[in-house]
Amino acid sequence: MTRFGMAYKFALEAITTKVNILKEEFRLAHEYNPIEHVNTRIKTVESILKKAEKKKIPLTLEAIKENIRDIAGIRIICSFVSDIYRISEMIQKQSDIQVIEIKDYIKKPKPNGYQSLHIVMKIPVYMSDHKENVFVEMQIRTIAMDFWASLEHKIYYKYNRQVPERIKAELKEAALTARELDQKMERINQEVSIIKNQESQLEHFVYTPETIVKLLNSKK
Ligand code: GTP
Ligand code: MG
Repeated sequence: MTRFGMAYKFALEAITTKVNILKEEFRLAHEYNPIEHVNTRIKTVESILKKAEKKKIPLTLEAIKENIRDIAGIRIICSFVSDIYRISEMIQKQSDIQVIEIKDYIKKPKPNGYQSLHIVMKIPVYMSDHKENVFVEMQIRTIAMDFWASLEHKIYYKYNRQVPERIKAELKEAALTARELDQKMERINQEVSIIKNQESQLEHFVYTPETIVKLLNSKK
């Protein structure tokens, strides 16, 4: 089991490094950080066994490795929906990452209101004597989506999965409110970056002699 668990730990370290590089590099290049925070977790043996039982997966390491694709999980929280797709594109472009499945619960939320972008991928982990391609489940969502999902999760367990209809309806409504908030934030952010862009162009125009000379020349 230790060696089995180690592959997942290394896979999470590898993907975390990739995400950190994207975050740092993007911040330097665009003076803007698209990632709020990142969490990783490895499924406990107990919940691996529970899931195997539920999904009728034989209790062999091989079968578990192949069929339980969320033993290693990474969750990325972004400020804006557009950042989610930007991060997703950047991850998918990396040649050592093999994208297995993408579930877009933002374009098509779950019936209960859940929103998030899920990417199931395989990433190579090099051990002393062999290479292993390890499944990692990535979830990318906004702060609002994350807030909703963590409350929904708590309620689900509080009621032992039997959530009263009235609360279900309220949760669904809250998911729509979160969606509207995300859309509003996106619009405000776009507006502000347009203004910032115009201002920096203006500054550039006012203060650099080269642009003034260029302009004078073009007027000749
Ligand atoms: P699992 O068998 O649970 O992994 O579901 P699945 O194979 O249908 O995968 P899916 O991509 O739909 O969900 C995987 C993970 O997303 C879950 O383990 C949760 O972390 C999260 N998730 C999915 N649906 C919900 C939801 O309705 N509420 C919350 N809070 N989280 C969800
Ligand atoms: Mg799961």
